[in-house]
Amino acid sequence: MEIKAQRRPFHELDVEVLCMVVFEAETPENTPLMAQLNERTNGVIGSLLASSELRGKPDEITYIHQPAHMRSRRILLVGGGKQEHWSPDGVRRAAGTAARYLKSRGVKSMGFFCRPEWAPEASARAAVEGVLLGLFDVGTYKTQEKDDRFLEDVVIATDEGSLDALERALHRGQILAKATNFARNLVNEPSSILTPTELASRAGEMASRFSLDIEILDEQQMRDLGMGALLAVARGSDEPAKLIILRYAPEEGQAGQRAPVAFVGKGITFDSGGISLKPSKGMEQMKYDMAGGAAVLGAMRAIGQLRPAIPVMGLVPAAENMPSGRAQKPGDVVRSLSGKTIEVINTDAEGRLILADALTYACRLGASQVVDLATLTGACVVALGSVYAAVMGNDESFLAEVIRAGEAAGERLWRLPLDEAYRDQLKSEIADLKNIGGRKAGAITAASFLSEFVQGVPWAHIDIAGTAWLEEKKPYLAAGPTGVGVRTLVHLAEQLAQTRSSPTGRG
Ligand code: BES
Ligand code: ZN
Ligand code: ZN
Repeated sequence: MEIKAQRRPFHELDVEVLCMVVFEAETPENTPLMAQLNERTNGVIGSLLASSELRGKPDEITYIHQPAHMRSRRILLVGGGKQEHWSPDGVRRAAGTAARYLKSRGVKSMGFFCRPEWAPEASARAAVEGVLLGLFDVGTYKTQEKDDRFLEDVVIATDEGSLDALERALHRGQILAKATNFARNLVNEPSSILTPTELASRAGEMASRFSLDIEILDEQQMRDLGMGALLAVARGSDEPAKLIILRYAPEEGQAGQRAPVAFVGKGITFDSGGISLKPSKGMEQMKYDMAGGAAVLGAMRAIGQLRPAIPVMGLVPAAENMPSGRAQKPGDVVRSLSGKTIEVINTDAEGRLILADALTYACRLGASQVVDLATLTGACVVALGSVYAAVMGNDESFLAEVIRAGEAAGERLWRLPLDEAYRDQLKSEIADLKNIGGRKAGAITAASFLSEFVQGVPWAHIDIAGTAWLEEKKPYLAAGPTGVGVRTLVHLAEQLAQTRSSPTGRG
């Protein structure tokens, strides 16, 4: 598929189908663009509106054939909802809805018109992201009904701003969307294929393709270092654990000497619960328990291409959580890399164990700021559902940066209170802390546990248990892995590169 930028009025776009957003309550009388469209369709828009067939509701689709005075053969109007709720995320959604609809009809060429009142760069970027994210398909292993229809040409157009800026926006949007789809592909893989070893090898291929350094620690190396918490989780599995470490460094003189920001992602390739076995209903979903790790790999991929002026490390502790005669058991006490001892009350709270050692290691490697992403708790799903990811941390201004990055990316983050008082729930009689904090505030006690392993460094934790997997498809997105977190991390790296290089930045 080829994606091109064009700067010209909508009626001059030479595409099979031209897509445009219509908001609620728009009419040819109150909106100049609708008036033009009405004229160029010989009044079809007006009559669609009069019959309320066209209402501009979110994701609503109206297909118009052979518009009289336009170069495109058809028009696809996509509802944008209420204009006052509009954001670049709305463009992403509308473009995704359009692309999925047209692909399913076998259309080969589409144009998407960014309306003149929208911020040109942000909306063009969101439009490309919407198209590429919308077209992602999870049917990798289908042999019978494989969908062979695909869009060949996509034009993103506007008649405002410079063509240069538009092209830059498309370039960035493609990098971000492809990185997100890369993560979605990893998450989609069954755990029989995507073992920790396979995840490490895919990270290796990606690293060499996008000029990143990679180091993969095996179990012996982790044992020598003292990563007792991570290794305890892997003990029940025949698949050996890996710790994937990726490094991006900007060019010399480009702030390369500064300490890196570290992204750490939970990489449990399958979470059976271990000896604290999960119920079988829905257990198949637990192949997505490495979505945080996949997001970190996706973000590093994009960072390797965008090359921001800040060094970045990506760490993915990867393991499979299985029951067996060798598995860790409730009541065991493990010694983490930090030296702190942990009483394992529930082997299903394994994510925090592998993250504990990875976070400690990120700090040892000299990280100046740390963000971790993890499908960490069912409690987070209960609290925020599949709309917002939870974010918590130990530093006000860093948290504000992370939330701002989420906004720029169109990924919703909601802060939960990581109050000292929750730490009491993790008190153990026998060890420094235990790995679960009871039924109350499960997403917070999990974060409180993690906070023990990142002292002295600004840190944010994002729980993506509810947002990493979409249970039912949307008009703009397939069901399955969402790739959440990739874009937030990339935007964050770019923001940090800016604040650090500016004279007022905290450096
Ligand atoms: N991977 C799960 C969390 C999860 C649940 C992710 C649902 C996605 C959807 C995690 O390892 C887990 O099992 N957490 C337990 C913690 C509990 C034992 C304290 C949970 O949330 O039930
Ligand atoms: Zn678990
Ligand atoms: Zn888990």
